[in-house]
Amino acid sequence: MKEVKYEGMTFVPYISREEIEARIKELGNEITRDCAGKEPLFLCVLNGAFPFASDLFRAAEGIDGEIAFIRLKSYEGTASTGNVRQMMGCEKDLEGRTVIIVEDIVDTGNTIHNLIATLKERKPAEIKIATLLFKPEALEKPVKPDYVGFCIPKKFIIGFGLDINDKARDLNDIYVLKD
Ligand code: IMP
Ligand code: MG
Repeated sequence: MKEVKYEGMTFVPYISREEIEARIKELGNEITRDCAGKEPLFLCVLNGAFPFASDLFRAAEGIDGEIAFIRLKSYEGTASTGNVRQMMGCEKDLEGRTVIIVEDIVDTGNTIHNLIATLKERKPAEIKIATLLFKPEALEKPVKPDYVGFCIPKKFIIGFGLDINDKARDLNDIYVLKD
């Protein structure tokens, strides 16, 4: 792994594909244990969460889960705009179901907080949050992820689904903005 450049900014290696893979397997096992017999609906928050959701869903193959997608947008460049727009919804009936929101990263918590409020109107039995990355120092909303891949400091990262203006999602490893 070496440095990569996007929009004139330099990013350095931070979390390797191997570490990500191993951690997702552990989360998949935890979910399999916790959700035995529940047939949960994995709700992947596009665009960023698609590689994580794909791996996590398959790491929990023992529980007969389903996967659905929703598309939200709150970030412009390297900063959260604070306003969350829903670009694509999910038509599944959520009533009485265990819903696992699958996010790439919880930063301010605005996106998840907003999404949970909307989902609750559809009367799921329970809502859980699985996020590959979590920046606890950036949190502004009372949000508590149930499954966290990695806790990281308040720094801007890219790769494995995470983007800079829609670029870099294809990187297999995660990179952090160089100081
Ligand atoms: P929040 O609403 O502030 O929690 O931000 C959630 C969304 O912002 C995530 O789902 C990401 O799409 C995006 N985001 C937050 N931090 C980063 C980052 O460090 N790199 C890339 N995208 C990020
Ligand atoms: Mg996201």
